[in-house]
Amino acid sequence: MDKHRVWQQLEQLCATESSLHLRDLLQVKDRFSRFSFRQDELLLDLSRQRLTTNTLTQLLQLADSCDLAQWIESLFKGDRINHTENRAALHTALRLPAEATLEHQGEDLVTLVQADLQRMQHLVEQLHQGQWRGFSGEPIDTLVNVGVGGSDLGPMMVCRALDGFQAPEARQITTHFISSMDGSQISGLLDQLDPARTLFVVSSKSFSTADTLANAATALDWLIRASGLTTELLARRHFIAVTANAPRAEAWGIPVENQLHFRDWVGGRYSLWSTIGLAIAVRIGMSGFRALLDGAHRMDMHFRHTHFSHNLPVLLALAEVWNINFLGIHAHAILPYDGRLAHLPAYLEQLEMESNGKSVDRQGNRIEHHTCPVLWGEIGPNAQHAFYQLLHQGSEAVMCDFIVPARRYADQSDALQSQHRLTLANCLAQARVLALGDAAVDQSNATPWQRYQGNQPSTLILLDELTPASLGALIALYEHKVFVQSVIWNINPFDQWGVELGKQVANSLLDIIGTPATTDRFDIATEGVLNQLHGQWSD
Ligand code: F6P
Repeated sequence: MDKHRVWQQLEQLCATESSLHLRDLLQVKDRFSRFSFRQDELLLDLSRQRLTTNTLTQLLQLADSCDLAQWIESLFKGDRINHTENRAALHTALRLPAEATLEHQGEDLVTLVQADLQRMQHLVEQLHQGQWRGFSGEPIDTLVNVGVGGSDLGPMMVCRALDGFQAPEARQITTHFISSMDGSQISGLLDQLDPARTLFVVSSKSFSTADTLANAATALDWLIRASGLTTELLARRHFIAVTANAPRAEAWGIPVENQLHFRDWVGGRYSLWSTIGLAIAVRIGMSGFRALLDGAHRMDMHFRHTHFSHNLPVLLALAEVWNINFLGIHAHAILPYDGRLAHLPAYLEQLEMESNGKSVDRQGNRIEHHTCPVLWGEIGPNAQHAFYQLLHQGSEAVMCDFIVPARRYADQSDALQSQHRLTLANCLAQARVLALGDAAVDQSNATPWQRYQGNQPSTLILLDELTPASLGALIALYEHKVFVQSVIWNINPFDQWGVELGKQVANSLLDIIGTPATTDRFDIATEGVLNQLHGQWSD
């Protein structure tokens, strides 16, 4: 059946089903077993989504009508599905096992990827063994990742999440992440570091991102002032470049021997699996890093080979498409019930909104329907005391993702285990109240201000435990969900042209800051502020 027809059928279905309340849907005895799906150590519970079996059947038809199966094959084979940049999107190749093969443009990508990993492993070992020495001959004990967007959020999120999996050899190495263009992170950090023992990892796919280059220049200046040595020597001892643009990194001053590479078929927001993951590998060791890759690979295989009716990324994508395009829900909260996942919301904000924040389809036509919703989030228990009021009683419909490990602190104190029980109870309570509203408890005497409408749909992702493998699977689940939605919406999730315009305009303003805006080059508001700045800077 053609997509237009299925879409219309779903609209008709919505006209009758949108009034269904989760309170009633959750009365059905086998609802949990029908709407929850397991893959290895990860359970995807969609029972609190406003779906019926009928809706799901038609959503699965929608996926078929969009040729989803062919698109998935194209993704994995390395077709140039990023058509606006004429590139493949082969982040899945980064997690293939060493014995696999994947021909792409006359090269075996697995050989290439394994060689990149080998170089990374060598560097990790040098750092772990204290063999990488700074300008005074002392071993490096501090690593500062300098990057932004995908070159920062992925490694930072994973390092924090897997804090407890630190490799014994990594104990003497402290890791920091610097991203903000305004220098507020780096200026504060440098005061606390020893230049002789600090290594800067300049992570940038393009090696042209102003934010990253500005922070790297500040780091170099700090080293020069501290040591009195030349740029050349300091670049050799204190800088590593992780990039897909070796010539630019070299032109900046980082010699090829100090570079780790990845390829242009890895999108920035999909790059933590590549050498961009250096900080992760330093922290959890190469075996931990490989376990992360393996968890993601197992999710890849599940996504590629499992029937859509049991395929976790496909089902998650379809449940959200139902919310966004039919139930009219355009806000999405990411709520991890585990402080180790503190950076997951920010990571997913980039993954989802930079990928699917599009309003022009693959053929260049303006899209009539909604695409990516507004996504935000916070550690769930903290958000309970901040923005949950809006989820419970606000006027916006919001879909929520609750993410929580079933087990934690198994070999630690009873007190900590109690904290985890408390966290689980709160997670389940919030999902329950959002779904049922008043019906969650007896509210017969409640005032109008105490009434809860409920019917806010949510997804619960229950990990057996948070480990490198389960985290890999979780991230891959989200990556593939984003891809499935892009196919349904007929958009390219792998470009980000909108971001580029902001960079261009910033460049055009750079030299003018602090001078009077006498020309008619800018708009009235911009010139007004430029003149104010001129006043401030010339005092
Ligand atoms: O400007 C957006 C963006 O290109 C992201 O897609 C990317 O993750 C980030 O900037 C950093 O880019 P790079 O790794 O090239 O410095």
